[in-house]
Amino acid sequence: TTAKILAFAGSARQDSINKKLVKVALEGAKAAGAEVTYLDFRDLPIPLYDGDLEEAEGLPENVLKLKALMKAHQGFLIACPEYNSSITPLLKNAIDWASRSEPGELPLECFAGKVAVLMSASPGALGGLRGLVHVRSILGNIGVLVLPDQQAISIAYQAFNENGNLKDEVQQTSILQLGSKLATVTAKLNSPI
Ligand code: FNR
Repeated sequence: TTAKILAFAGSARQDSINKKLVKVALEGAKAAGAEVTYLDFRDLPIPLYDGDLEEAEGLPENVLKLKALMKAHQGFLIACPEYNSSITPLLKNAIDWASRSEPGELPLECFAGKVAVLMSASPGALGGLRGLVHVRSILGNIGVLVLPDQQAISIAYQAFNENGNLKDEVQQTSILQLGSKLATVTAKLNSPI
């Protein structure tokens, strides 16, 4: 079974260090045989969740696109910045919209039974690790199997070279391994018995 992995960062910022990080990890997933789609939330702007908007117009077009992407993949590779020790509003908002069901859908169809691996990058000393606690908890509560393996890259504005790889070889290897681990576990969980 080929694992289908959706890779994205919880930041829309052009020079996002979390985008850089997840792009390293997705190479590890590809090397382990996964089919990887990279999603840049800058290309998929989503309005702030508003129950009145949902009631009046249904799910916004870009939310439907996001949900279709999520349903077409079995694994999520996620790098999320830490904002005030927690998840970014961009990622929480995307999760909240995607958790809303359309008629005919199973509850939490975008999330239930999916596998995820988390990582973070921050200019600070803790690398965004405290935010991942919340990302893990939120995803776990909506049925995602979040693997225990995770990495946080500290002092990350200095961590990448001009090719987008981590200057530190140990870090580079551990991020590639996160991607390959997700690919391997996702493929195994989705292979016919
Ligand atoms: C931050 N940043 C931050 N960093 C951190 O390590 N711990 C934190 O609690 C916070 N809090 C925080 C709040 C808000 C509102 C912003 C805008 C930023 C700094 C953050 O890590 C930095 O902006 C990163 O560059 C964000 O990631 P991207 O966008 O580069 O991927």
